[in-house]
Amino acid sequence: MTTSSFIARRAHLAQLLQAQGGGVALLPTAPERQRNSDTDHPYRHDSHFHYLSGFNEPEAWLLLRSDGHSTLFCRPSHPEREIWDGRRLGVEAAPAALGVDAALPVDALDETMASLLADQRAIWFPFGRGAELHTRVAGWVARVRSRERSGIECPTELHDLHPLVAEMRLHKDASELATMRRAAAISAGAHLRAMRYCAQRFRDGATAVAEYEIEAELLHEFRRLGSQSPAYPSIVAAGANACVLHHAAGHTELRSGELCLIDAGCELDGYASDVTRCFPANGRFTAQQRTLYELVLAAQQAAIDATRPGLRQRDAHHAAVRVLAQGMLDVGLLSRDAHGDVDAVIESAAYRQFYMHGTGHWLGRDVHDVGDYMALDEAPVEQPDGLGGTVVKRPSRVLRPGMVVTLEPGLYVRPAAGVPEAFWNIGIRIEDDAVVTDNGCELISRGVPVEPDAIEAWMRGSACGPEGTP
Ligand code: GLY
Ligand code: MN
Ligand code: MN
Repeated sequence: MTTSSFIARRAHLAQLLQAQGGGVALLPTAPERQRNSDTDHPYRHDSHFHYLSGFNEPEAWLLLRSDGHSTLFCRPSHPEREIWDGRRLGVEAAPAALGVDAALPVDALDETMASLLADQRAIWFPFGRGAELHTRVAGWVARVRSRERSGIECPTELHDLHPLVAEMRLHKDASELATMRRAAAISAGAHLRAMRYCAQRFRDGATAVAEYEIEAELLHEFRRLGSQSPAYPSIVAAGANACVLHHAAGHTELRSGELCLIDAGCELDGYASDVTRCFPANGRFTAQQRTLYELVLAAQQAAIDATRPGLRQRDAHHAAVRVLAQGMLDVGLLSRDAHGDVDAVIESAAYRQFYMHGTGHWLGRDVHDVGDYMALDEAPVEQPDGLGGTVVKRPSRVLRPGMVVTLEPGLYVRPAAGVPEAFWNIGIRIEDDAVVTDNGCELISRGVPVEPDAIEAWMRGSACGPEGTP
């Protein structure tokens, strides 16, 4: 991403501020977080801050006035600290490197803020980031107010900056989509690698493979191809663990005859991917596993078909639920006698016993990315609440080209009375990342197959992977 992209984003945000009456936006990056004595968690910038600045260092703030003038507060050069922590951009180099109009040392934030906020009608900053930010802004406002007698006007309005930046981030530009395609391709390659690894281990005579060993294959592939980290803790779930939606890869052993569910995606240059595949440990689906797998795959196809401009984000969920609910009746997970037909199963939300999450979310810098899910420009209407009742709320958001969503239906069968035992402990989710295009959607994570025959072929070693895969 070039400096000009960040300059253009700041110019766009300044226009939005202007249209809302003007003022100045304040945006801190994320704090460093201590992990334990003398050791920090790996640093990760704040997504809004990086989206507007392109700046990766901690202890930084962006100030953007609605007339377009931008100021970066950052750490000054410090030759001794830089021996320990690495190079800093520094105040002198920041304007040319980042395209900001001015740069000041972050230590000067409190003393300069009063003059920077003077005569600004409104202050915009992200709400909901904790009391400390509100307290800090309140302190700066108090300083300006104390100087009012000298003819300075004090801001009288505080506004939430988050919705403006979130709306911008919801619509990805070409360079963002290029990064997301690459992130999804790396993740797909990691899933391929994990599948082949399992198959090889069982062929070599292993009786079990630990979840953490499979996770190691994913991490290897993420880093080998330049991703900075996983976008979220990798889920590697052996057998029954797949019925725990956020099961972290642990010490459970995957055994022949079981399914393995992997929900793992890398983060590349600040952008997430989010991919789920299920595969049989030994490379062959059992009849029951295949039955449920094909049902989830059909639900995902219905969701894909319902993802195009003009349709609503939630339409994919409704489409997937209908296929899953019909399938639950067809395979006997739900009995017709107790639950009626597919419409009754949807209306009563009986399907939630086996499918209890939504079918997708926005994807971008954050794995659950920002952006309204509701159409804020439409009036609330009565609609099903998905729990068997109704609720009055705004309709779901209409999809537009450049939005990115995940499509991730699943089925999770916990042992229970009345549930056919042959399906117990099977958990399946299939998740792909989809860019909304002019007339449909582009699946950017299909570098790893979803068809059961194709998965088996890949695990047998009789199918080729993309360049760079083992
Ligand atoms: N991996 C998190 C999710 O699928 O939403
Ligand atoms: Mn996921
Ligand atoms: Mn997801």
